[in-house]
Amino acid sequence: MEANQNIQWFPGHMTKTKRQIQAGLKLIDVVIEIIDARIPVSSSNPDLNGIIQSKPKLVLLNKCDKADINATRKWVDYYAKNGIIALPVDCKSGRGLNKFVPSVRKILEKKFEAQKAKGIKNPILRMMIVGIPNVGKSSFINRISRQTRAKVEDRPGVTRGNQWYTISKDLEMLDTPGVLWPKFDDQKVGEKLAFTGAIKDNILDIELLAVNFLNLMKSHPTQEFMQRFKLSENDLTDNDSYELLKLIGKKRGMLISGGEIDTERAANLIFDEYRDGKFGNITLEYPEE
Ligand code: G4P
Repeated sequence: MEANQNIQWFPGHMTKTKRQIQAGLKLIDVVIEIIDARIPVSSSNPDLNGIIQSKPKLVLLNKCDKADINATRKWVDYYAKNGIIALPVDCKSGRGLNKFVPSVRKILEKKFEAQKAKGIKNPILRMMIVGIPNVGKSSFINRISRQTRAKVEDRPGVTRGNQWYTISKDLEMLDTPGVLWPKFDDQKVGEKLAFTGAIKDNILDIELLAVNFLNLMKSHPTQEFMQRFKLSENDLTDNDSYELLKLIGKKRGMLISGGEIDTERAANLIFDEYRDGKFGNITLEYPEE
């Protein structure tokens, strides 16, 4: 969502959203954390675990249509080793979402049983979505509530001001997601968020950003990237990343007066094409890192 890209994360802002998430936590049984499958580290917020404490969590590796399938598998295994279910999903097409409800039920199995043991005949358990801006929270909520359609009717005993979606006969979802702030302390995090378009790049030096992106592409070039710019192996080894940026600009005829190469235009082109998936499916963070 365009508006989200403009969010400035001042300390006051973070405190406010943290408070909102904490208020939501009191009402729910499981947290659904949405992260970007291409950058699972940079798109998650390590503070979340401290905020949710012992509350169970399910992770959605969203935008898996744009991530490298082998890397996504590695992330699923990584989370499994840490006792967390992570589901690769594509909330734009809905792919992978059929596993969502069964997975939430699995996580909440003991809680359902405990409720039934207490004599509650038809227990309803609740969940809340959290994630950084642009990770796909609205897309997920639209998809999952379109499948089930109904918003929960106002009824006695339900806290006023909170709207719930019925996800299945025994699961409900808070309709307002918790917006997490990205963890910008590490410059690399901000850079990867900018690569994927999660934060606006016009506040950053786009050419420097492109040079750093090309550093990554030089070490893990995809066929699509090589073919798109008709690059040879030598083009990668003989040029540093700035020279490679110039070469790409030259190949696309991006010249300014005096025959110089317009590296700013070339940088913008690289990000447009990368975000559009023209360089193939690329994951920028692996569990080993
Ligand atoms: P938010 O609520 O967390 O801020 O994110 P939102 O759902 O608005 O999604 C941000 C952008 O990411 C949207 O693109 C959305 O379509 C896209 N998106 C969400 N999930 C997926 C996914 O699984 N795969 C892909 N490829 N894209 C996804 P947009 O540019 O704002 O709009 P549009 O391209 O849909 O027109």
